[in-house]
Amino acid sequence: WWSHVEPAPKDPILGVTEAFLADTSPEKVNVGVGAYRDDNGKPVVLECVREAERRIAGNQNMEYLPMGGSVKMVDETLKLAYGENSDLIKEKRIAAVQALSGTGACRLFADFQKRFRPESQIYIPVPTWSNHHNIWRDAQVPQRTFHYYHPETKGLDFASLIDDVKNAPNGSFFLLHACAHNPTGVDPTEEQWKEISYQMKVKGHFPFFDMAYQGFASGDPERDAKSIRIFLEDGHLIGCAQSYAKNMGLYGQRVGCLSVLCDDEKQAVAVKSQLQQIARPMYSNPPVHGALMVSTILSSPDLKELWLKEVKVMADRIIGMRTALKENLEKLGSPLSWEHITEQIGMFCYSGMTPEQVDRLRSEYHIYMTRNGRISMAGVTTGNVGYLANAINEVTKS
Ligand code: LMR
Repeated sequence: WWSHVEPAPKDPILGVTEAFLADTSPEKVNVGVGAYRDDNGKPVVLECVREAERRIAGNQNMEYLPMGGSVKMVDETLKLAYGENSDLIKEKRIAAVQALSGTGACRLFADFQKRFRPESQIYIPVPTWSNHHNIWRDAQVPQRTFHYYHPETKGLDFASLIDDVKNAPNGSFFLLHACAHNPTGVDPTEEQWKEISYQMKVKGHFPFFDMAYQGFASGDPERDAKSIRIFLEDGHLIGCAQSYAKNMGLYGQRVGCLSVLCDDEKQAVAVKSQLQQIARPMYSNPPVHGALMVSTILSSPDLKELWLKEVKVMADRIIGMRTALKENLEKLGSPLSWEHITEQIGMFCYSGMTPEQVDRLRSEYHIYMTRNGRISMAGVTTGNVGYLANAINEVTKS
């Protein structure tokens, strides 16, 4: 039956973790996957999550959630993206369902797009999170790209981005990273977001936001929603994928949300029912435990306050490691400029290293990262930053 099946290529991100785990060197460093580590390199369970678990323990039944997931979790999640006192929420204009984290939210949307806008394409930034390509490919939505990153400045290629927005056919779908762009760590400024929003409005484009890192750009989830709020002020209808993998550290719990802003409540009811119908044959209904933790945290003022503090601690540690990595490279006399390490934000540094240099880091230094040169700053610690800087200096100096 299966003799014609060839092994699939390794995933460019999760394959790095597999290779790291197989390495027996005591010196090995994993700066591949975007998963937060403390300064000892250990995975972190937030205290707000531990406390939510204690409060939930023993009170929970194991019944199915509805197809759209936990209404309480979804309601709290919408407030984070659209604003605590959003009129759009009050007017019930947002169709929203619990999703299997950010990937699941993007995939549900891509399938919805294919079903109800079968002729449409999706414009994806260059570069983007590698899985975006897989998601829209498997949903059979044709992909186009738009300029985003400028390799020479290691910043935003704003002029080309705006040109691409203007040149795309009216009413195109655009995938935007709401904050902490993955993999580049380069976000538009507020002024640039306003211009992007304006130009997209002129063209009647549909912005779809992937917000996987809310809180990791500035340390404040509210501030990190600024891009979305600008688009809302301009009267766009938007889609949004939200995830609690990073900002609550709930990676393996797969808790997220897909929302689609509609013209009115009637439309939102219809859209939600269709999203549920897409979910039903795929996984019926989403898992309950993570959603219950999220809704417990966000609806308990003390736990929400603790969460906000803990997000900031994570974001600040990463910012500290950016400075440390840059300073170490400078101390080693690296002839290259490493300003972008501290200018880029969020979980990643898009280092500018070539695939060959990345391969040398792996083979000679047991340092693991994706071949596009992305460093997950969340894996850098005071213990390994010197070793990492030395290795980067060695492979980039000649
Ligand atoms: C990453 O970009 O490293 C994360 O979003 C993890 C993943 O699933 O790729």
